[in-house]
Amino acid sequence: MSSLFSLTEEMMKVVLITGASSGIGRACAVLFAYRGWRVYAAARRTEKLNELKIRGVCPLYLDVTDEKSCEACVGEVVAREGHIDALINAAGYGAYGPIETVPIRDAERQMDVNVYGTVRMIQKTLPHIPKGGRIINLGSAGGRAGTYLGGWYHATKYALEALSDALRRELIDYGINVVLIEPGGVCSSWGRIAADHLEKAGKDSRYEADCDKVAAMYRKVYSEDNRLLTTPMTVARKVYLAAEKEKPRARYLFGFGAKPLVVMNTLLPDGFYDRLMKSIFTSDFTARIVNKMK
Ligand SMILES: NC(=O)c1ccc[n+]([C@@H]2O[C@H](COP(=O)([O-])OP(=O)(O)OC[C@H]3O[C@@H](n4cnc5c(N)ncnc54)[C@H](OP(=O)(O)O)[C@@H]3O)[C@@H](O)[C@H]2O)c1
Repeated sequence: MSSLFSLTEEMMKVVLITGASSGIGRACAVLFAYRGWRVYAAARRTEKLNELKIRGVCPLYLDVTDEKSCEACVGEVVAREGHIDALINAAGYGAYGPIETVPIRDAERQMDVNVYGTVRMIQKTLPHIPKGGRIINLGSAGGRAGTYLGGWYHATKYALEALSDALRRELIDYGINVVLIEPGGVCSSWGRIAADHLEKAGKDSRYEADCDKVAAMYRKVYSEDNRLLTTPMTVARKVYLAAEKEKPRARYLFGFGAKPLVVMNTLLPDGFYDRLMKSIFTSDFTARIVNKMK
């Protein structure tokens, strides 16, 4: 009986998930654990991760901006399991605000979490990923089309597109797949955090009114009961597909607003698209529709 148990344990696949204290990362931790993977869930707020222990998830402290923290986190998983079948990079946020006013230190921090943090984790994990393993990066539809007042966030997501494509080519002969998940609007704390940044960055600037309008819209649209938005669990299911499918696609574009946004950005003339974005995000018409949302 005990040898059967250890055989089953050995067959369990191992996943390390960043950003697992909230939203998409948390949903991934729940789903992968439910499907029988051994899950290591990492973030800074370990008190939130501890809630996942009941589902068999192992919580780990991680600050993706800290090299030593990344090393310790990956080292812990490797010491316990010997390898990592999949790395899911879900840590990230939106430092929204006008390019003219977002302080460079805030922009650096944005790049540090969303881009360098992702690459730090890839560098530490890759030597321990066997053939058939996965690196799954949470990009965004916003990595293929910009909206209004989100310049630095989009810069990080565009960067993740280029880096994921480059890594996929580099790993071609090693049987490790690199996948980009590109959701549209997902119901999580992401919207509130983006709104906080917008209001702060817009203060006392010529963009203040627009920043406040867009921030108010994000607070309303990203409220937890908005059924229009994609749920974190829907995203987790796509991530799971990317982790389990023998030949996953390079990118999965889906969810609220994702495809229309990318199609418009591809087909419309730049000037038209720019005005359209600005008016969609700031018009009273949009505000009225948003305010009617339940
Ligand atoms: N929500 C959307 O509409 C949407 C759409 C497309 C793509 N995405 C992307 O999906 C990813 C997950 O977003 P979400 O919607 O799930 O947002 P969320 O609910 O706010 O979760 C973000 C996660 O990132 C973690 N994090 C932030 N800074 C970190 C750091 N320095 N070190 C380690 N972890 C850190 C947070 O954990 P701690 O604070 O506990 O560390 C949290 O677990 C992000 O990359 C986001 O850009 C989101």
